[in-house]
Amino acid sequence: MSKKILVLAGDGIGPEIVAEAIKVLDALQAEGAIDVTMEEALVGGAAYDDCGDPLPAATLEAAKASDAVLLGAVGGPKWEPLHFSKRPERGLLGLRAGLGLFANLRPAFLYPQLADASTLKPEIVSGLDVMIVRELTGGIYFGEPRGVETLESGERYGYNTLCYKESEVKRICRVAYDIAMKRGKRVCSVDKANVLEVTEMWREVAIETAADYPEIELSHMYVDNASMQLVRAPKQFDVMVTTNMFGDILSDCAAMLTGSIGMLPSASLNAEGQGMYEPIHGSAPDIAGRGIANPLATILSVAMMLRYSLDAGEAADRIEAAVSKVLDQGLRTGDIMSEGMRQVGTAEMGDAVVAALRA
Ligand code: NAI
Ligand code: MG
Repeated sequence: MSKKILVLAGDGIGPEIVAEAIKVLDALQAEGAIDVTMEEALVGGAAYDDCGDPLPAATLEAAKASDAVLLGAVGGPKWEPLHFSKRPERGLLGLRAGLGLFANLRPAFLYPQLADASTLKPEIVSGLDVMIVRELTGGIYFGEPRGVETLESGERYGYNTLCYKESEVKRICRVAYDIAMKRGKRVCSVDKANVLEVTEMWREVAIETAADYPEIELSHMYVDNASMQLVRAPKQFDVMVTTNMFGDILSDCAAMLTGSIGMLPSASLNAEGQGMYEPIHGSAPDIAGRGIANPLATILSVAMMLRYSLDAGEAADRIEAAVSKVLDQGLRTGDIMSEGMRQVGTAEMGDAVVAALRA
């Protein structure tokens, strides 16, 4: 049966990079490797400009009715003066909440061809392949009570609450273990169990849940050490699973080990396996409309979509191999350009991936 993809191109470079990802989907569809139907809708600043709402009800409904959402990026200086509730970024948060996307998958991998893009020594990062699984709908970003008050003394008092239900920990651990089963079968659960009771429980639940996964090698690390280890010897990790806030910080750190913001995809999944897929970078207003943005993070997001939501792992493998091939050919967009390589624009890069897929 045909799977439904909702395409939300968004703002800035969003439409440019999404157009290249659609070329890749079209190429796979044309040869019968996948069976999808695509529909487009507005989100972010584009939606605000159209109807005054960064997440129109029709867009959320269409997202709910699809198997997967492909998102470009949202936001830009044009909408910064708007009230928080009208900002493009609210569209993203609304989609995450509305679809119940509790599992954020943030791979950090470095194609060996790009080892010189990192600020770390090539031998530390070349061939890096870590998957960070971040809990996305709970923890301190959502916990109640929260707020800022003025005490009787006149001093201000601010507070947020870090809280997790056992069931929330269990389901994110399951996602991490299921992914690890398809990779190196090693999971490092990151917590602060020496200081925070809730993460002491996190550690217990991680261990209990692992009983269903006898092949998984589970380890534990405090978050401060984990951040240090990520920079010292990142290749020791296979899958990392952690709370919303720790994952936010660690995944940005891990992404930057690769030095190339235009290369990294991400996925956010719900309990039904429905997912939203997007590059980790933003709308890059500084280069929007010039045809020079790197479309590979978005194309690799399509690979994740095929693997995790559309049951087409083989096609996903082929996209990743095609990306590796164009890098072997020496093609580079400006953000990953280095000496001796050939600089290409957004569309030329997309076309090269399609050609490599077909070859
Ligand atoms: P950004 O990721 O858009 O850009 C940071 C730098 O990386 C810029 O110099 C940009 O040109 C470059 N860059 C990003 N993607 C690239 C690509 N594919 N190819 C080549 N170069 C690329 O982050 P920034 O500048 O902090 O944010 C710009 C806007 O994007 C803001 O409105 C922000 O709120 C929004 N944003 C949206 C996100 C999303 O939609 N998920 C995530 C992050 C930021
Ligand atoms: Mg972040």
